[in-house]
Amino acid sequence: MLVRLMYASRSADTLSPEDLTVIVKTSRAHNPGAGVTGVLCCSGGIFLQVLEGGRSAVNALYLRIAADPRHRDVELLTYEEIEERRFTGWSMGHVNLARVNPALLLKYSECAVLDPYAVSGAASMALFSELVATASVAGQG
Ligand SMILES: Cc1cc2nc3c(=O)[nH]c(=O)nc-3n(C[C@H](O)[C@H](O)[C@H](O)COP(=O)(O)O)c2cc1C
Repeated sequence: MLVRLMYASRSADTLSPEDLTVIVKTSRAHNPGAGVTGVLCCSGGIFLQVLEGGRSAVNALYLRIAADPRHRDVELLTYEEIEERRFTGWSMGHVNLARVNPALLLKYSECAVLDPYAVSGAASMALFSELVATASVAGQG
């Protein structure tokens, strides 16, 4: 039983680039053991993360992440049962949107900034799929 979950959140005011590196490192250390794959996108103080894996593993991880004081306003955007994973290559891929063509953001939203609170879950998921297709995700494995 596989599921895919996507949420958005706002980073804590105090979050530094080093903190983000630690979060990605922790994720890459923990997720393979839990059978979780996914991608984390961070831009302008907004996090957008997709988690896929077994239902129990993804649910448990989401609850832990949602309680993390390094971010707030955690909002569940989509949750679906899936036949297969889409982000198999990443224990936790990382996207730096500063390096992504603004046209890609414009394709799915009114302006070229990441604001998953303002668009549909389907639009955010489509953006993620394109980021993967255009090799914008770093951190294979
Ligand atoms: C935006 C964000 C994304 C995170 N993603 C993950 C993740 O994919 N996997 C993970 O194990 N921890 C992730 N964490 C860290 C968890 O919240 C938690 O600190 C970590 O799993 C260690 O939990 P523990 O101290 O209970 O062992 C994330 C934290 C934040 C703020």
